[in-house]
Amino acid sequence: MKITAQKANWKKFKADALACFQPEDKKWLENSLQYYDKGTPLYWQVSQMIASGDMAGKKDEQIVLYPTKGESAAQRVILIGLGKPEKMTLETVRRTAAKAVKKAQSLKSKSLSMYLPRVARKSGEEIAAAATEGILLGLYKFDKFFKQDKEDPKVKIESVTFLSDDGKILGSTIAQIAKAIERAETICNATIFARDMENEPSNNKFPETLAKWASEAGKKSGFKVTTFGPTELKKNNMVGILAVNQGSVKEPRFIIMEYRGAKKADAQPIVLVGKGITFDTGGISIKPAAGMGDMKSDMSGAATVIATLKAAADLKLPVNVIGLVSSAENMPSGSATRPGDVITYANGLSAEIDNTDAEGRLVLADALIWAEKYKPKSVIDLATLTGACVVALGHVTTGMMGNDTRMMNNLKKIGDEVYERVCELPIYEEYEDLIKSDVADVKNTGGRWAGAITAALFLKKFTNYPWTHLDIAGTARSEAASDYIPKGGTGVAVRLLTEMLADEAGKK
Ligand code: BES
Ligand code: MN
Ligand code: ZN
Repeated sequence: MKITAQKANWKKFKADALACFQPEDKKWLENSLQYYDKGTPLYWQVSQMIASGDMAGKKDEQIVLYPTKGESAAQRVILIGLGKPEKMTLETVRRTAAKAVKKAQSLKSKSLSMYLPRVARKSGEEIAAAATEGILLGLYKFDKFFKQDKEDPKVKIESVTFLSDDGKILGSTIAQIAKAIERAETICNATIFARDMENEPSNNKFPETLAKWASEAGKKSGFKVTTFGPTELKKNNMVGILAVNQGSVKEPRFIIMEYRGAKKADAQPIVLVGKGITFDTGGISIKPAAGMGDMKSDMSGAATVIATLKAAADLKLPVNVIGLVSSAENMPSGSATRPGDVITYANGLSAEIDNTDAEGRLVLADALIWAEKYKPKSVIDLATLTGACVVALGHVTTGMMGNDTRMMNNLKKIGDEVYERVCELPIYEEYEDLIKSDVADVKNTGGRWAGAITAALFLKKFTNYPWTHLDIAGTARSEAASDYIPKGGTGVAVRLLTEMLADEAGKK
């Protein structure tokens, strides 16, 4: 799929469909009549549309009009409502661009042109990037397993063109817009890569598969990947990963990714840590059957970390980034870890495994200990860690906890912009009482209350540097498709983390 910006007019530009975005503003709509030639059928249709109120520019309104030959080289005109002008944000652009491209595709259009809508205080580049995101992420489908229907082949959009009558788009030049499109494409491709990994069923996805995906991405995009198998895991006392994987017939992996883009090769890196459970049955503390299939994406943290390294490398961001993935398959079997087992970590801390379904924190602890080696500027871990976080925040917001106030404030700000929003939950020390064990330094469950917080406090015991934990249990999977977020794996936080790294890179 190709997205370009061109100096061209809608009357002359040949396309299967033209999308126009309409704010909910009577004056604006009436004004828009000037773009149509008086007395032509299209002029008549639009004036009727305004008079009848059939399309007033309200959010979610859509209408398709058919120009006659001389009026426009576009075969059809799709009008999309933007909603109230004062509520317009970049998110409106993402959503309406997704709507436009999906509508065009459903009408079997292969080419689509559009005029980008204006957003107060946002540059043409930012608006073009948001539209690109809506288009590419909106068209995403995980459809590789469907049998092809030869009788009724799927028509896919092949090109989208942002039109400009005068060589400028919302104040930016075509060249500037082209650059913004390319950058957004790179980030979207990484997001799509994460979604693909998340959606892959677990009969095709094991710790070794995650390692392979990371290695291939590293080769292609230019970052170094090292993988630990059982031997190295034992040698380095990575007891959490080993314990969680103990019931599986597959081998565990610890994946180390290094992207050094900073001018100073030894500049303190940002370390990203991902939970890579390729399937979570719960182990001996087995989960109920209903919905267990969703646990194929219990490696979403890992997917986000791998994909973010790819984006950082593809964008050649001048920053050093380390990605660490702890990967295991959590299965029950005769060799599986039992509730009550105690393991002792490389840093000397012992943990009682009270519940084998609280496996994420066990595997992350190994990675958090390992992260120390890099003298990190900041460590951010991502994990589909707790059902409790989904209960608290649903599928809309990522739970954020940690001690790195600077980073957390930054993630909050960037999250609002890219619309991958985070909200901080407290990790007050009183909650620590809940994870005290009778037999070990810490216990991997904290009981019924504050489950997202007690999980974070378990992780905190393994950190001695600026640290942020993102619980993406709710945001990594969506239960219902919306404009540019499909049902299933969302690739959440690839955009958030990539923009954060770009921001860190900007500060020397
Ligand atoms: N992977 C799950 C958390 C999860 C739940 C992710 C729902 C996505 C959707 C995690 O490993 C888990 O099972 N957590 C337990 C912890 C409990 C046993 C302390 C939970 O949240 O129930
Ligand atoms: Mn679990
Ligand atoms: Zn899990």
